[in-house]
Amino acid sequence: MALTVRRRINHFIQHIEDGFTAVFGGQNNPLHHLGALTIFFFWVVLISGLYLFAFYETSLSGAYDSLERITYDHWWHAGVMRSLHRYASDAAVITMILHLSREFLRDRNRGFRWYSWFTGVPLLWMVYIFGITGYWLVWDKLAQYIALNTAELLDVLPVFTDPMARNFVIEELVSERFFTLMAFIHLVGLPIILVLGLWFHLLRIIRPKINPPRPLMIGTFTALMVLSVLRPAESQGPADLSVVPTQLSIDWFYLPIYPILDYTGPFVLWGALIGLTLFMASLPWLPPQRREPVAEVILENCTGCTFCADDCPYGAIDMVTRSDGRRFPKEAKVNPTLCASCGICTGSCPSSSPFRNASPLVSGIEMPQGPMEKMKQDIDEALRRLEGQEQKILVVGCEYSVDVTEIDRPNAAPVRLPCAGMMPPSAMDYALRGLGADGVLVTGCDCADCQFRLGNLWTDERIQKKRPPYLSGRADRARIRTLWTKLPGRNKVLREFDALAEDLKGRPAEASGSEGVGGTAQEADDEQR
Ligand code: HEM
Ligand code: SF4
Ligand code: SF4
Repeated sequence: MALTVRRRINHFIQHIEDGFTAVFGGQNNPLHHLGALTIFFFWVVLISGLYLFAFYETSLSGAYDSLERITYDHWWHAGVMRSLHRYASDAAVITMILHLSREFLRDRNRGFRWYSWFTGVPLLWMVYIFGITGYWLVWDKLAQYIALNTAELLDVLPVFTDPMARNFVIEELVSERFFTLMAFIHLVGLPIILVLGLWFHLLRIIRPKINPPRPLMIGTFTALMVLSVLRPAESQGPADLSVVPTQLSIDWFYLPIYPILDYTGPFVLWGALIGLTLFMASLPWLPPQRREPVAEVILENCTGCTFCADDCPYGAIDMVTRSDGRRFPKEAKVNPTLCASCGICTGSCPSSSPFRNASPLVSGIEMPQGPMEKMKQDIDEALRRLEGQEQKILVVGCEYSVDVTEIDRPNAAPVRLPCAGMMPPSAMDYALRGLGADGVLVTGCDCADCQFRLGNLWTDERIQKKRPPYLSGRADRARIRTLWTKLPGRNKVLREFDALAEDLKGRPAEASGSEGVGGTAQEADDEQR
């Protein structure tokens, strides 16, 4: 039930994403780079923060005045930096919330992804504490309100012997040392903890997207600059402990808990915060995801070439010392707890060549639920069904994008795979030169948004000979196209298909029968070197 609702919301959101793709293009769609954008905004926060530090006075008595000087006397440089610091922090919260919502709605928080989700939860806390301590350092009326309410919140914990709130209602008790502690936490402690937290968060992700594309960086930075100049960040009057602040403007991105605290009191708020954290941390198991069988290394066909280990998007393959006495120094070994069952490794194994005479065809690494032999048979069968057609085009699609079996064209031979990256380039060549297909169209998730992170990128790079295993030089590249688009992109796939079909008209197929290119895993591997 919950999953059905999520699927519906997901479908709705997909239309919004498509709107973004139409404006920015798939590669630069900001929704495809939310994690990376959050990191980019933190860079802006860090650099602007360092700049501000040169003008800021880290003391209770000097903090407010130094910020006034920054905002008004040095408005054109330090003032702009202050605004940039604040707006980039807000932007980081927005992209972080969108990032986690998107991962959740796309069902990318369960199964093998539990780790990324689970380690994301403490990041949420860190980012909020980061923001709150930042507002504290201004030591204006808002900071006073935050300090007082934070003390009230902390006082109910059985940690502090003296009530902390006293420190913020009696002028003489406001401790300089406490303020310096806040400054230390904000300026040194939290940045270090955040970097550590991020390191844990990305530990299981190979080549994480930590930098957004340049146009996105330039665009978002320019927007932040314009906002900073047009609407400079200001303080809200100096803190005065003899007066309880009443009229305050709240930063709803960072400080929503304070108005809630005013309304509910500390116990309810603590209960809600702890409950929400536990609920979020347990989401990967609500309900648990059915585990697909993981990749299996078939040692007799593994030459230890390392291609699969280089391509695995989740670092699930280690190259270890050979255990069967063969002359190759290494062999691949799958770590089942990290494996996403995407099959991308099958697509990268040179032994996966359908040209090999071995029967049944067994690769160096196989997915038990979709072995290489089955892929070969599916391709054979799909093309055989078009026997007698003037034109035959193999259409390969992934399970998370347009369902290619619904392509209603008489000349289409559809084959579905868990991920487009599972298809070795030799299989495209095999369809063209071995089985006489006129063309091959490979389709899958939007660029920069592959369900398994890198499947579409690797497919393109293998075809373009930028990444092994390369598409054979003998294959006619003009006959092969890729199209990366999301679920509602059926019409796009049809248009691309029709365009390819049109281009291929008059070009005779390279029919040759399925003669072998190489008979052994080693020969297939050698072809790639
Ligand atoms: C400081 C805030 C955060 C930053 C900077 C951040 C950044 C990132 C980055 C760069 C990735 C890798 C994306 C890729 O290369 O495919 C990622 C993945 C992920 N993040 Fe975050 N993240 C943050 C917070 C969170 C939070 C709060 C959650 C959820 C509670 C979360 C959940 C995930 C998940 C589930 C993935 C894995 C996606 C996949 O395997 O396809 N993140 N994050
Ligand atoms: S199936 Fe995917 S995640 Fe598993 S080992 Fe192969 S490439 Fe890595
Ligand atoms: S031969 Fe195949 S299984 Fe062995 S290391 Fe190379 S890609 Fe991996």
